[in-house]
Amino acid sequence: MLHMPSDAPNNPLREGLLSRSVPEPCTLVIFGATGDLNHRKLIPALYNLAADGNLPPSITVVGFARREKTDAQFRSELETAARKFSRQKINDELWANFAGSIFYHQSEFTNFEGFETLAKRLDELDSQRGTRGNRLFYLSVGPDQFPVILENLRKSGLNESKPGSWTRVIVEKPFGTDLPSAIELNNIVHEAFHEKDTFRIDHYLGKETAQNIMVLRFANSIFEQVWNARYVHHVQITASEPLGVEGRAGYYDKSGAMRDMVQNHLLQLLTLTAMEPPTDLTADAIRDEKVKVLRSLRKITGKDVAKYTVRAQYAAGSVNGKEVVGYLDEQNVPKDSQTETFVALEANVDNWRWAGVPFFVRVGKRLPKGATEIALHFKGVPPVLFHQTEQVIDDNVLVIRIQPDEGISLRMSAKLPGSSLRIEPVKMDFHYGTSFGKATPEAYERLLLDAMAGDATLFARRDEVEEAWKFVDAIKEAWDSGQGGPVVKYDSGTWGPDEADALVKRHGANWRRL
Ligand code: BG6
Repeated sequence: MLHMPSDAPNNPLREGLLSRSVPEPCTLVIFGATGDLNHRKLIPALYNLAADGNLPPSITVVGFARREKTDAQFRSELETAARKFSRQKINDELWANFAGSIFYHQSEFTNFEGFETLAKRLDELDSQRGTRGNRLFYLSVGPDQFPVILENLRKSGLNESKPGSWTRVIVEKPFGTDLPSAIELNNIVHEAFHEKDTFRIDHYLGKETAQNIMVLRFANSIFEQVWNARYVHHVQITASEPLGVEGRAGYYDKSGAMRDMVQNHLLQLLTLTAMEPPTDLTADAIRDEKVKVLRSLRKITGKDVAKYTVRAQYAAGSVNGKEVVGYLDEQNVPKDSQTETFVALEANVDNWRWAGVPFFVRVGKRLPKGATEIALHFKGVPPVLFHQTEQVIDDNVLVIRIQPDEGISLRMSAKLPGSSLRIEPVKMDFHYGTSFGKATPEAYERLLLDAMAGDATLFARRDEVEEAWKFVDAIKEAWDSGQGGPVVKYDSGTWGPDEADALVKRHGANWRRL
């Protein structure tokens, strides 16, 4: 019988959002270590954590990949990447110190022997560096490689932990391409690792501003009173990017905006906005509430997709003054591709708090600006007082800026100074940068630290991922059967097609211009 690894007891002080301590010494094994994610995100994040004194000195990183190279070559490649992508400038002495903890292990993922030699090497590193047998395996590879890596980890016993130590796995997105594939993947992961040792990355959850949604809601007495269908007219969640498909057509054309962004990042933001207060701040209490929101999402099926969703693809245009080609002319995109690069939809959370409040979700590539935000639009005042003066009174809007210019603003109405009564919208604005005077850490910094500390709060649980797929699959199925009509076009550098405007206008609303 398979011996399942046991987890080290959680330090209660570090549980959930309360976390604030240095994780235990451990070895992080990165599969796919010569890839883009490791260069752009993981190594810079680890360096910044080390530079800020947030990692134990004995932290050890082992890169596992196919190409032949020495530790020295690997370190030098990573140094080049870190100098390019790190949030903080690289300090030579600190880098030299950090680089001394990085090692390279060459093997094919399919080669079982490579895992046996890895096991030996990890044991040696444990005794040389004092990493105490604690291991974190990071699957920074395409999902087609997950099964073979997990199987070899299991066959070589590397998934098991020794008494008093722990073994965990971090899985990158995409987590499946639909519900059946996600279930299959979850089953494969669970043959080797318990759910409590499985950390599914959604980097939006690591963003400082996403974590602040709960604090804004539950640490301030004024907002929660009005955070419901009685006061909120609708919610807008937008993630816009000026970038195009950027050489990722192989992946993106099979995925599209719905699977790439809505299934994970956007639905995660929606759950944090709509969830009930959890019973406490433990990972499961929070994730229980998020799952309930996903379960309450009304499925959009059959001909309803034409009413509740818009899918579109970018045509040529100009973004930030630069001429860009249309999606179909991007390298490796099939000329007849129907893949959507833009989605707008109306979601409904059918529960007591939100009945009747549309949650408009909008996401797209080649839009005029890169910005992610959540905006709660409140109901208007009764039309009985200032309306007699023929003035237009804007509704209150609370905006949570996830990125960039992280912060929160509240739009309200004020009297323009002067003898006549003129009402104008004004903004109360909080900016992270100026209020706290320090740069917000990168999402991967927080997430790596949490995984090392065994805190799964900011990672997607199995049932969250599966519920999100149920919502997305219903829409995809209807689209694929032709019920949403063909994919419409929008010019690059615009805010999407007119159909997206019509979606919100039906409720007397307009998309915010970001
Ligand atoms: C990724 C998507 O998960 O998120 C990309 O695959 C997208 O297509 C990216 O560009 C956006 O992330 P961020 O942090 O830049 O908003």
